[in-house]
Formats: sequence, structure tokens, C-alpha cells
Amino acid sequence: MTQTALTLTKNASTAIVEALNQCVAETAVTTMLAQNFHWNVTGMAFGPLHELFQTIYEDHFTAQDDLAERIKALDGHAEGTLAGMLDRSKVSEHEGEASDKEMIEAMMKAQQTLAATLAGCGEIAAEHGDALTEDLCIARGQEHEKFAWFLRAHLR
Ligand SMILES: [Fe+2]
Repeated sequence: MTQTALTLTKNASTAIVEALNQCVAETAVTTMLAQNFHWNVTGMAFGPLHELFQTIYEDHFTAQDDLAERIKALDGHAEGTLAGMLDRSKVSEHEGEASDKEMIEAMMKAQQTLAATLAGCGEIAAEHGDALTEDLCIARGQEHEKFAWFLRAHLR
């Protein structure tokens, strides 16, 4: 049966909030990763890659807010510290120099990780009948797989 914020049990909303915080953390870390690459990319494809990384961080900046505000709609606590996000994120920051190809590969992997995390969160929401969170996660997962394709197309 479909549930809403008002009808979810405490255990259900706690599980969904935990999964959403994982999504927020990885989206935020990937936002910074994309901005890092936007600033530091070099090579003959500088222009389009500089723009693509900007498209990604702008998308992710909006998405992390949407995901965190879904947590608030469920009356949970949205993890709001960089340290806490880095601690739980399966996406890592990139330190130091990287070639354009290394950046594309790292960002493609980040997008694939995010797609899996969002799909998993959607599954948890679905198990508890939370169609509204599930819908948000499905939409976000689709965006991450689209970006993964954009990046993969550079490597063929
Ligand atoms: Fe810029």
C-alpha cells in the first residue's frame, strides 16, 4: 500500500532517511569533484569538457538540495557537513593533477556509483510503500546514467 510522510512508520522513515543521506553525500562529493575538474581540465577538448563538468555540478547542486529536502519532508535529519558526507560517500575526491581522460574516467565511475546508490534508495523506498521518494530516486538515477553515457562516449 502506498504510504506518505504522515503514514510511514518510524522504522520505515528512518531507513529511507538513512538511504537518502547516502544519496545526498555522494551527490555533494560528486558536485565538488565536477567543479574540481571544471577548473583544472586541460587538453584539446578543454572547452566542451569545461562545460560538461559545469553542467554536471549545476545539476548535482540542485539535486542534493532536492534530496535533502525530501529528508526534511520525512521529518529526518539531513547530514549537512562535508566531513560527514565524505565519511559515508562511496565516491571519493580527486587530489592533485589528472589528465582529461583520467577525469572523464573518474567522473564516469562516480556517475555509475551514484546511479546504483539512487536505485538502491528507490528500492528501499518502494519496499516501504514510499512512492514519492521512489519517484525522486528513479528520476535522479536516470540522470546519473545519462551523464555516465555522456562521459563513456568520450572514451570510445
Ligand atoms: Fe566556471
